[in-house]
Amino acid sequence: MHISLRDTEAFLSFSQAEWTKWPVGPLLITSQRDGAILGSTGLAFETSYRASTGIVLAKDAWGCGFASEALAAVVNIAATLSVRRLYALCHVHHEKSVRVLERCGFVREGTLQGHTVFPNLGVSEPQDVYCYARMLDRPRVVSSIVSDAVPSRRTT
Ligand SMILES: CC(C)(COP(=O)(O)OP(=O)(O)OC[C@H]1O[C@@H](n2cnc3c(N)ncnc32)[C@H](O)[C@@H]1OP(=O)(O)O)[C@@H](O)C(=O)NCCC(=O)NCCS
Repeated sequence: MHISLRDTEAFLSFSQAEWTKWPVGPLLITSQRDGAILGSTGLAFETSYRASTGIVLAKDAWGCGFASEALAAVVNIAATLSVRRLYALCHVHHEKSVRVLERCGFVREGTLQGHTVFPNLGVSEPQDVYCYARMLDRPRVVSSIVSDAVPSRRTT
């Protein structure tokens, strides 16, 4: 969550460091129609074979399938880079995240109790999160993954 310019500058430094160290780091999600920024995602490598991901969309971009399409693309990028284990954490009450992750083939492995503080919730107490993972064997073409993961193609 970016509250000040300093938060944004810190994120940009972090992003640059990630892209310097690993083949991929944070990514923007943009509209194919007009290039508008819809949200962000990316890969956070922990080792050459293990990375985490996450997705955040602007609220007015929810409900159109953008997150599912972006996550399917991230899965494909990770597979191409020989990531074996791709995982994501999500708040146990965030059903939209659960649906996106399950739609993209991630499997719930369990609950991590008191794991993450979510500044956007306005509470300082660490919250329980689900750990979802997808094991990747080999690269697949994007169109195949998108059509597997997303029930219908959006028309925009
Ligand atoms: C998580 C988050 C990105 C999900 O957004 P979303 O809009 O629900 O996800 P999508 O863009 O994939 O859209 C899926 C929804 O659009 C609908 N939809 C419409 N057209 C669609 C299409 N062509 N393809 C797929 N879904 C489509 C689906 O039915 C689905 O709605 P449902 O979940 O009510 O069934 C969003 O809630 C968010 O930014 N949350 C805050 C950050 C966060 O919690 N991140 C999770 C960390 S992993």
